[in-house]
Amino acid sequence: MCVTVDMFMIHVHILFTLFCVSLCQAQNSVALQYFGSLDNYQVNAVPTSESKYPWIARVIHSRSSYVPHMCTAACIDEAIFVTAARCIFNLKVNYTRVLYNSKFYDTLAFVVPSVPTKQAYDDIGFIVVRAKNTKSWQVINLFNGANRTDGAYQWFAKLDMFYGPMKYKVVGYAMRKWINKIRVPERHYDLSELDVVVNLEICNKILAKKKAKILFRVPCYHSCTAEEFEKNNAKCNRYHGVEGGALIDTISNKLVGIATWGINYDKYEVPVGFSVVNSENFFKDYRCAKLIRDDKGSLDVKGYYQSLCDD
Ligand SMILES: *[C@@H]1O[C@H](CO)[C@@H](O)[C@H](O)[C@H]1NC(C)=O
Ligand SMILES: *[C@@H]1O[C@H](CO)[C@@H](O)[C@H](O)[C@H]1NC(C)=O
Repeated sequence: MCVTVDMFMIHVHILFTLFCVSLCQAQNSVALQYFGSLDNYQVNAVPTSESKYPWIARVIHSRSSYVPHMCTAACIDEAIFVTAARCIFNLKVNYTRVLYNSKFYDTLAFVVPSVPTKQAYDDIGFIVVRAKNTKSWQVINLFNGANRTDGAYQWFAKLDMFYGPMKYKVVGYAMRKWINKIRVPERHYDLSELDVVVNLEICNKILAKKKAKILFRVPCYHSCTAEEFEKNNAKCNRYHGVEGGALIDTISNKLVGIATWGINYDKYEVPVGFSVVNSENFFKDYRCAKLIRDDKGSLDVKGYYQSLCDD
């Protein structure tokens, strides 16, 4: 039998079945868990506009064109954007621009966790851009109602208790489903939003039902609850899964999390995992991003930014 050694990793067999067979030995076995990439599509989400979410941004891997669009980002501070770390791992800094508030911004630096989580499921990446002469930055404030007080997301399970009610929505640039199957640079991404429910059980229950034997509890959102999913409620036919998608609380209007992982199913829609903006990595990398932004030093020195952020 497969026994996971890490309590917090999801053991998902869905698309990538049978890894376990070869990896799991009789004792001290290790199961491979998989946090898949999001394919940047939506199903029955609601079209929306940048005027409603002026802090939303696109990450584009070109200095001269509107395409290719890589993922969604959110402006949280002057010249600082956050997205899924996974989105920027393979990008070149000096080809990357952020399209924000109808203007392109050249990237100055990326900051990603030096100690990543498994398949970056809990990793947020920072993009620091060259500020130009922008005076007023439209930002979304960060949810700061809870610190991580344990490693098993008990602090997350108790959010309602400590913080009060929250109403969640996910916002980001998405294609329609099926178009995501066609790989061309000109694919069309539009801004859309979707009301979602958020909890620790939703991935556990819905993904576990569809094959995986052992599922752990991590923060996920979906268009409906696990109970509604069970009953084939029509609400569950909606989906919004984009790398860097912004999960906001519409009551406080704060950024709670960044969509980071998911599983793509053809036949129905399943929950999406996200990273809450309060991990140790997050705070550390945020400090680093601010140091880089505020620095006036020599950019010619190799590894200069690295040294700026070393403790
Ligand atoms: C990217 O950076 C390299 C060296 O760091 C430089 O030679 C190249 O011209 C840059 N490319 C662009 C598009 O700025
Ligand atoms: C989280 O921790 C910081 C200091 O580490 C503290 O200032 C803040 O009040 C804490 N927030 C909550 C919600 O407990």
